[in-house]
Amino acid sequence: MTEQTEHATLLDRVDEHAVLAAADEAAFDRNTLVRLDPDHPGFRDREYRARRNRIAQIAVEYRPGADIPDAPYTPQEHEVWRTICEALAPAHEEHACAEYLACVERLGLPRDRIPQLREVTEKVEALCGFRLEPVAGLVEPRVFLESLANGVFLSTQYIRHHSTPLYTPEPDVVHEIVGHAVTLASGRLAELNRLVGRAVRRARTAEELERLSRVYWFTVEFGVLREGGRVKAYGTGLLSSAGELEAMHTAELRPLDLEAASRQQYDPTHFQPVLFCAASFDEMYEALKRYLLNRS
Ligand SMILES: [Fe+2]
Repeated sequence: MTEQTEHATLLDRVDEHAVLAAADEAAFDRNTLVRLDPDHPGFRDREYRARRNRIAQIAVEYRPGADIPDAPYTPQEHEVWRTICEALAPAHEEHACAEYLACVERLGLPRDRIPQLREVTEKVEALCGFRLEPVAGLVEPRVFLESLANGVFLSTQYIRHHSTPLYTPEPDVVHEIVGHAVTLASGRLAELNRLVGRAVRRARTAEELERLSRVYWFTVEFGVLREGGRVKAYGTGLLSSAGELEAMHTAELRPLDLEAASRQQYDPTHFQPVLFCAASFDEMYEALKRYLLNRS
């Protein structure tokens, strides 16, 4: 095992679970590329951990512009995807906004197997120009958000452990594809993601970066809006979890106020007690665009 100092800890953009990745390829040690916490559902599964390492290695070796190599998913992992899709289909019908449902139709992603990032990025790029690029784990907020300015979404490729198909302590390929990749097939949502990236690029202070991260959290990740008098989700963290979609109706809904959202603290490890709700998709699009363009 290599020294910890030979690795860079990738900071978690969603929760506090850290993933290790090689800072220097010469110091690369595939056995310790991914470090799971003892309370991670896959901690005691040696095969799962080995597979996580192989998938992380794809990301470490990836060079932008190249085809993304296929991840070695097992039949059991494809079953996890099927289980999640079965739980999400009725939840989406009930709770997802029309823009999202149109994107699902447009992309036509498989529900009976995990689509490879390579095939997802081909479809998304053809529609709105966004590309997915694999990352070994969670990356620093500035790196993750700035890449959006270039139409690049940094995506994990592993799937959660099969013992907990409806729970994951960290964002996995289900969240990345069902949440982010699908929304990036919407011209307006893809544009907003790019504008987030550009605003983050212009951010000169840690405080400004934090404010933009919170705005991203309460819109792109956990945004809701009204449609036909009902509350619907456009946030990727909601749309990739049937549990989150149910729980959003118990949250305190505040009118969309991006200045307030930029100051609102949140805990990523629990269902969100406070959500910002736009009066419509159009209001959300216009307000977020204006806010991001005005950040200097
Ligand atoms: Fe996310």
